[in-house]
Amino acid sequence: MKILTTVGEMQAACRSLRRAGTLGLVPTMGALHDGHLSLVRRAKAENDAVVVSIFVNPTQFAPGEDFETYPRRMAEDCAKLEAEGVAVLFAPSVEQMYPQGATTLVEVAEVGDRLDGASRPGHFRGVATVVAKLFHVVDPDRAYFGQKDAAQVAVLRTMVRDLLFRVELVVCPIVREPSGLAMSSRNLKLSATEKQRALALCRALRAAARALECGKTRAEPLRAAMLRQFSGAEDVRLDYAEVVHPATLLPVADTRDGALIAVAAWVGQTRLIDNLLVENGSAASAPAACQDAEKMEAMHA
Ligand code: PAF
Repeated sequence: MKILTTVGEMQAACRSLRRAGTLGLVPTMGALHDGHLSLVRRAKAENDAVVVSIFVNPTQFAPGEDFETYPRRMAEDCAKLEAEGVAVLFAPSVEQMYPQGATTLVEVAEVGDRLDGASRPGHFRGVATVVAKLFHVVDPDRAYFGQKDAAQVAVLRTMVRDLLFRVELVVCPIVREPSGLAMSSRNLKLSATEKQRALALCRALRAAARALECGKTRAEPLRAAMLRQFSGAEDVRLDYAEVVHPATLLPVADTRDGALIAVAAWVGQTRLIDNLLVENGSAASAPAACQDAEKMEAMHA
């Protein structure tokens, strides 16, 4: 695997890969887990060559957020990507991605201010800006993102449409730990106790899925079922539990025409997100089970 750190080298490498066939891009911020590797495998199955980027993008973190403490695991990440047969890893510096004096930002209005965009003002401006730059450098045929970041997917779909990018966005299912917890690089920041507390998120989604199975299609009972899972949850602070349109992220009153049920919560100092899609009146992607980490450990012991 080639590891490239400059925009010029990466543009040249991608130009030559594109001449040989289709090119897939998996943009990441590193600390790779099985969720990221599922994107890499899908990209490998669908393209002649795959490139991965690892860049902890400062512009998508507000002052006081966890940019400094975001997990960085470059050596382990390289070994994992080598094992997957990735052609090129792009690991640029901040100066490469944001040349001195850079003032241009990509603002996806409205959709970019909803869900995580409302809780983290400016977050999606940073995401859209860096992903647009990566698309320019790599010019991929397809780019792969995880469904866990459902609001990010809605923002990037809007950006691709509005800015006429030629890339096809491919969204891959959420990968979960055996406990049911959605995989996230930020899980590395959780203690064992916090990991157990974090199961409140997938329990909330399970509760919504059960309510759907009982024929409750309106948003309010689904939200109420989720909120119950957070009442009294120790050291877990709910940010949002919403039932929205998957593309616009605007609230919907009923899920019969499809919906995104999304949840975000702080577990200690760490903010986590999770979601499920409702299609044809039922949960298309609910976590199968959310078991206590302790019970899981006992089962595997
Ligand atoms: O999903 C992520 O890891 C990041 O938001 C992305 C898309 C790599 C942009 O920095």
